[in-house]
Amino acid sequence: MQDKKTFIAKTLHGLEELLANELKTIGAEDVTIQRRMVSFTGNTETLYRANFQTRTATRILMPIYEFKARNEEELYGLAKKFDWTSVMELSHKFAVDATVNSETFTHSHYIALKLKDAVADHFRDRFGRRPFVDPKKPHIQLHIHINNHDCTVLLDSSGESLHKRGYKLYQDIAPINEVLAAGLILLSGWDAKTPFIDPMCGSGTIAIEAALIARGIAPGIFRKNFGFENWLNFEKDTFEKVFNDESYERNLTPTIIGGDVSKRAIDLTILNAKNAGMHKFISTEKRSVFDFEPPQGPGTVITNPPYGERLKKEQITTFYKQLGDCFKQRYQDYKVWMLSGNMEAIKRFGLHASKTYTLFNGPLECKYLKYDIYSGSKKMKYKEK
Ligand SMILES: C[S@@+](CC[C@H](N)C(=O)[O-])C[C@H]1O[C@@H](n2cnc3c(N)ncnc32)[C@H](O)[C@@H]1O
Repeated sequence: MQDKKTFIAKTLHGLEELLANELKTIGAEDVTIQRRMVSFTGNTETLYRANFQTRTATRILMPIYEFKARNEEELYGLAKKFDWTSVMELSHKFAVDATVNSETFTHSHYIALKLKDAVADHFRDRFGRRPFVDPKKPHIQLHIHINNHDCTVLLDSSGESLHKRGYKLYQDIAPINEVLAAGLILLSGWDAKTPFIDPMCGSGTIAIEAALIARGIAPGIFRKNFGFENWLNFEKDTFEKVFNDESYERNLTPTIIGGDVSKRAIDLTILNAKNAGMHKFISTEKRSVFDFEPPQGPGTVITNPPYGERLKKEQITTFYKQLGDCFKQRYQDYKVWMLSGNMEAIKRFGLHASKTYTLFNGPLECKYLKYDIYSGSKKMKYKEK
């Protein structure tokens, strides 16, 4: 049995519990939820699976060195003492970023520079040469987190953020990221059997993530590279085992539809779905949401309508009012989930949300709201505002 190590999985605000569940499913232990992150323990296989299989993690970090420092000079001195040859070679390009929460250390950029110097000087003292820094495409990405005087250096096992699955080569204006899209679907509890519709699908992110979930396809399958593949102790066999594991794939073929009024959006959705190998499972409709006829419910709508940055206030509030009316009339027996950052417009939707989450689309605070649209004898059950 390999040594258990501690890891930190980062995520977006509001997705922590989903990530904790995903981590438990892949065999992680000591899973503990923190703010926008989940810590866990496991072996190398757990680390590779966390990168390859979880849909709601943005990156997975491994703490490698913890120390206390009272000032920047002490930080530099202690960091230089660490045996950096245990994590990288002279030929590796590296990068450092820092987050600080401290009265002593206030400039994260300066802290990152100090750690970078410490690593470079460690190599120079031992070998007369120093490794190059490459902030854009480093082989080894280091993070330093400082809380008061407690410093933790972490190795980034992911490389590029895990939301960059690799299938989305084309995007329309205002796309949501793949981790957020997967989070929306998992929060909705969609059963992956009943119809799933995003009638304002843009570049198709939500529909494609829905298809990947339905089929049980690991989101990591499209990535060219994970940070851990550059590590000195990279276990190729373990990664191949994780990569080739199809045991969690499923044969479900629910109806999944992406609609959009824009031809360009539909073209991009088709291209991205092809890249993800999901085009067989997603149908597209170039049509206004107001002309779209959904399949018979029960079903699920998850959508991210325009927030109205490019529209006049009255136009966008009227749009949301019409949208609410449209869902009420046409989507009987559906659960309609909407992500929007336009709080004024949401109020005009005209239906009472049975659940509300606060999430962030990039830096923008959004509400993710659930509306239960009842049919037939239950018609009166949905509450109109
Ligand atoms: C915020 S974007 C959705 C982004 C999408 N979630 C993604 O990841 O790419 C909103 C989309 O709504 C579409 N839209 C606007 N009005 C529409 C309408 N009446 N019917 C259907 N789609 C509409 C826009 O063309 C745009 O693609």
